[in-house]
Amino acid sequence: MSQRRPLIAGNWKMNCLRTDGLALARGLSDRAKAKGDLACDILVCPPATLISDVAGVTAKSAVKVGGQDCHVAVSGAHTGDIAAPMLADIGATHVLVGHSERRADHGESSTVIRQKTMATHDAGLIAVVCVGETEQERDLGATLAVVNGQIAVSVPDEATAENTVIAYEPVWAIGTGRTASVDEVAEVHAAIRAGLTARFDDGDKFRILYGGSVKPSNAAELLSVPDVDGALVGGASLKVDDFWKIIESCA
Ligand code: PGA
Repeated sequence: MSQRRPLIAGNWKMNCLRTDGLALARGLSDRAKAKGDLACDILVCPPATLISDVAGVTAKSAVKVGGQDCHVAVSGAHTGDIAAPMLADIGATHVLVGHSERRADHGESSTVIRQKTMATHDAGLIAVVCVGETEQERDLGATLAVVNGQIAVSVPDEATAENTVIAYEPVWAIGTGRTASVDEVAEVHAAIRAGLTARFDDGDKFRILYGGSVKPSNAAELLSVPDVDGALVGGASLKVDDFWKIIESCA
């Protein structure tokens, strides 16, 4: 593991009603309190309906809470959307932006994602900017060009290692049980690091997470890859035991 403190982030996606979500948050927060000194930062990103209550449950623990998306504007006539200052107002400290499901389901371009990243920063929150290639792009040998192209546009010039985290998530590995190999992850993370250090003064300090079917059985191996500074976890973040085992893989 690098000198960068790892971040283990859970993306609950559109899962959990109140009872399950609060039990999950309470389970994690209790374990974090009992453990005391942790080897990583912990973030959970519940559906918007639960952010406020989850933030209440985790307030006295090391578990941080984030949104899964935000609008580019601070307020206005945007029915159904949520502004970054609203997320901050209810206790969020982070926002996931540009998740591949947002890019696919809502047609979000890297240009829109840059605006959302800037809105996140303006609200004083940390943006977790997600990037990743499709299977077709990988088969064409375009992975590094796609990922670096997404970062070049999605991450604004004013970004710093303090307010921005990158999450590399190959689309073909998300929710499929297929994980990128250690060599594939190492190659992409090294290329992302090279791009960040070329562009930003503190490029060596940005955390770069890997995501895509991270689970207790593969977390330690993935987290030992150079330039992997944590994980963005979907399915396995919905069970306290599984997510906690991934957290404990950061030794
Ligand atoms: P997964 O999801 O762990 O279920 O593959 C990861 C993500 O989409 O962030």
